[in-house]
Amino acid sequence: MFADLTVPGPHTSSSVQAQKASAARKTLMPLGDAGTADLTLSGMNAIEMLEGQHAAVERLFDELEEAKGDEKQALFDELADSLAMHAMIEERHFYPAIRDDETDDVIERSLHEHLEMKRVLAELLTLEAEDERFDAKLAVLREEVEKHFEEERDETFPIAEDLLEEDHLEALGQEMLATMAEIMQGEPRYEVPVELEHPERP
Ligand SMILES: [Fe+2]
Repeated sequence: MFADLTVPGPHTSSSVQAQKASAARKTLMPLGDAGTADLTLSGMNAIEMLEGQHAAVERLFDELEEAKGDEKQALFDELADSLAMHAMIEERHFYPAIRDDETDDVIERSLHEHLEMKRVLAELLTLEAEDERFDAKLAVLREEVEKHFEEERDETFPIAEDLLEEDHLEALGQEMLATMAEIMQGEPRYEVPVELEHPERP
């Protein structure tokens, strides 16, 4: 009789995992002006999607500054998944689509910035959110990420808009969306240390 009541915990852990995955998916989906998840993505182009992800990451950094304990850890896991996924999407789809002789330098610089970001992220992944070194490293990550986002917004995205027709940008957005859905089946933050050993090059 008791045996029925003491079924060990795969149910619990899978439901926690499902909750986390769902929270991460919510954050990673591009956001509309009202800050709510926009699930009608068919008309969204690649740049709009990437900008939505930037905004979601900025919000997570803000929320992390106020959070404590389990909430802080959960928000960091979500941030780490968001950044890992964002870099993968750009490296697999966006940079190859805009790469030519003119854009080579900009893309190389972006890849270098991704690498720097991944190094700090990998260090943070070895710490608990309550670790005394965590906040200082998180501040370094935020600085690097914000500088990178600013460059993308001011330089890379305008180049892409000049280079690619709107229908190409929309098709690229759809490809990116399909990859995002695939990546978010798992926990992409754990790919970061692996990628550092074997950095992808478009
Ligand atoms: Fe990027």
